Amino acid sequence: MQIFGVDIGGSGIKGAPVDLDRGELADERYKVLTPQPSTPDAVADGVKEVVGHFGWEGPVGVTFPGVVTGGSTIRTAANVDKQWIDTDARALLSDHLGGHPVTILNDADAAGVAEMRFGAGRDRSGTVLMLTFGTGVGSALFVDGALVPNTELGHLELDGHDAEKRASTKAKEDHDLSWEHWARRVRKYLAHVEMLFSPELFIVGGGVSRKAHKFLPLIEGIRAEIVPAQLQNNAGIVGAAMRAARTGPQ
Ligand code: BGC
Repeated sequence: MQIFGVDIGGSGIKGAPVDLDRGELADERYKVLTPQPSTPDAVADGVKEVVGHFGWEGPVGVTFPGVVTGGSTIRTAANVDKQWIDTDARALLSDHLGGHPVTILNDADAAGVAEMRFGAGRDRSGTVLMLTFGTGVGSALFVDGALVPNTELGHLELDGHDAEKRASTKAKEDHDLSWEHWARRVRKYLAHVEMLFSPELFIVGGGVSRKAHKFLPLIEGIRAEIVPAQLQNNAGIVGAAMRAARTGPQ
């Protein structure tokens, strides 16, 4: 079975039909740049372009880089236009997509859902934390495989700052940090999160998971196992499609 998945990010909107049996993209993904300013209507047009590129007609799962409550309402927008706050994103996107049903959830939650089923978290019980490092830092908390949505651990305070301002890959790029320097910040962040949640496993995702060999070996002194995400940057697309296909609890 295939369902379409779209990942809305601070810099790009990307999507593809997803093969839900295999947890893989069924076609090469298509990406458009996130419009600036990233207002709801402009981004919804971008989503329409991505979905339209494949001529897809049917249900669509969408990720959003902020808190999504009740499966539709956006509550925060750290890295996209603030006009999103309090919009009914499910209705807005469905309107732009010709009335097809839309399922929307937080981007890190979507990535975590995919990793728990098809990737680094498969068959793992206990407390598992997926953290995504990109424009922001996202988190997805699982307890015996069940998602606790919207944990927003990227906004914990670290050294007097919003943690994602210190430990995101955007911070690495903006401040031209070496891998060693950035890894020290990530280590400190993981230690803080570990103190709060004592997870058995950290799954490190986001685009930077492709370069895990450059920084994970530099991170020492964390008790939990730390592994890179396996679906890498497609996890959000796959997780969004999984959620759109779901008919019962997942
Ligand atoms: C947002 C989260 C999101 C993360 C990754 C943070 O700034 O608050 O909701 O998951 O960025 O995009």
